Amino acid sequence: MAEREYMADLLKWQAEPEKEVCLGDLETIPLGEGRVFLVGTQAVAVFRTRKGELFALDNYCPHQGGPLGDGLVAAGKVACPLHGWLVDLKTGACPHSAQRVRTYPIREENGRLYLTFPVALAHGPEPF
Ligand code: FES
Repeated sequence: MAEREYMADLLKWQAEPEKEVCLGDLETIPLGEGRVFLVGTQAVAVFRTRKGELFALDNYCPHQGGPLGDGLVAAGKVACPLHGWLVDLKTGACPHSAQRVRTYPIREENGRLYLTFPVALAHGPEPF
């Protein structure tokens, strides 16, 4: 996805209603790692830090679209596995670019993961 298209999508997304979707068991994500979930048509990388904090971002590096979900997690950031750009897990900010990665609220309840997600992006082949 080109940067301009991604930014236009990000602006549109900010005005859209949201819903909460269940992504399954918390234990599918080992401490200190990330996993990628397909939510509707969107790939979302969910990270569980060694302290047990949860973060969710688009699985899309602002450099060349690398898979952030495969990156190494440390000090509140993920390092893209392709060229090492850092992305802040909480804000989606990237010190290498003015572009920000879209983030999503995520929480755990009774061992299950719940992601708050824009309704429009959740459309698709009913993965839930
Ligand atoms: S694609 Fe992520 S650093 Fe290059």
